[in-house]
Amino acid sequence: MNNFTYCTPTRYVFGRNAEAETGRLAKEYLGDPKKVLVVSGGSSAKKSGLLDRVMKALHSAGIDTEEMEGIKPNPTDDRVYEGIALCRERGVDAVIGVGGGSVIDTAKAIALGVLYEGDFWDFYAGKLAPEKALPIGVVLTIPAAGSEGSGNSVITKLDGLHKISLRSDFALRPKFAVMNPELTYTLPAYQTACGIADMIAHIMERYFTPTKNVEVTDGISEGLLRSIIAVAPRVFANPRDYDARANIMWAGTMAHNGICGCGRTEDWVSHFMEHEISAVYGVAHGAGLAVVFPAWMTYMTEVAPERPARFAREVMGVPATFDDKSDALAGIGRLKAFYHSIGLPVTLGELGVENPDFDLLVKKLHEDKGEIIGGYHKLDAEATEKIYKLML
Ligand code: NZQ
Ligand code: ZN
Repeated sequence: MNNFTYCTPTRYVFGRNAEAETGRLAKEYLGDPKKVLVVSGGSSAKKSGLLDRVMKALHSAGIDTEEMEGIKPNPTDDRVYEGIALCRERGVDAVIGVGGGSVIDTAKAIALGVLYEGDFWDFYAGKLAPEKALPIGVVLTIPAAGSEGSGNSVITKLDGLHKISLRSDFALRPKFAVMNPELTYTLPAYQTACGIADMIAHIMERYFTPTKNVEVTDGISEGLLRSIIAVAPRVFANPRDYDARANIMWAGTMAHNGICGCGRTEDWVSHFMEHEISAVYGVAHGAGLAVVFPAWMTYMTEVAPERPARFAREVMGVPATFDDKSDALAGIGRLKAFYHSIGLPVTLGELGVENPDFDLLVKKLHEDKGEIIGGYHKLDAEATEKIYKLML
């Protein structure tokens, strides 16, 4: 097991009507702000009345608000610049995201950029590491990206469509996350499924590791994966099944708050490859991962079958044959069947990407992420091109 530091400073406030506590939480954990910027998405939070309830909770606590609406999935840098200018102009001292990963990641980028005199993109370009940001709070509406508990923010630079994930364990972790499973009842089935694929991928990026003797972290990861796959059908059969929604919501946070990575090297190639697909073709991140992960695992069966085989046996229930490659392939088959069963694509064609530009994807991938990538198994451009082609 590797040395590690594990710290999840986020206060999770979980359950029915939790959003009513937003005002109190902002006062207590965002440094008693005078004015908060509330960032939200296209329309779901407005339509459901959630945005009004959050505003009311903040105003009742004596906190003034500014609003920034209309953050789109796969958020872009233009809205971040706009938010930074707004915060400076209006004297905002904390930021709250009401929505999913796209909204929360934009809120994080704004909070970071306000306290930095230069171009906020410097952080995403790797020119310097974030040290401070305005305090960030979250009201989560979709279990998926795990941004409510992660130190990451993923933003796309419109110039060149570079989708970059910035990681800063301390500056970017939300101070609190309000998590009411009832808020997810309105999620369309496709978005629910995309969220499930994303949380599965967050666990697997950490599960596929070359580090030995991490049985505790493996057990947590396998238990979470089995639970997600077991509970998922209930959410589609009855979208208002509170307990099923609650289990999926909590799994999404646990998948990405770092606990599944303790003591080991992580991989992240599938996310890197998917970020290029969603940046160029605008697909939902989770749906992209349902296509990428099985292809990446299929490639791994040839070069490093041990972990895909363990995944197949321990998570997908494949009977052991003592042949890692054949167990791994059976597990990948079961994973694809699961994705299909919840309405997700497993090929680029099914994802709606009819004529993928493989040269562009591979070029951008290695430009953005380095010549050699991967914590489980190192991959160069020749290998990643083969993996992209396995997605056909
Ligand atoms: O904009 P609205 O109208 O709210 O609609 C959203 C959006 O269309 C809808 N939605 C959200 N909550 C809803 C709802 N519709 C009905 N009822 C509700 N309760 O869902 C759609 C998707 O929202 P989005 O925020 O884009 O989803 P997600 O949470 O999957 O976030 C995806 C983004 O997060 C990044 C992804 O790359 C992508 O840009 N990621 C961020 C990570 C992080 N910060 O740690 C890690 C992830 O790996 C990921 O890369
Ligand atoms: Zn993800």
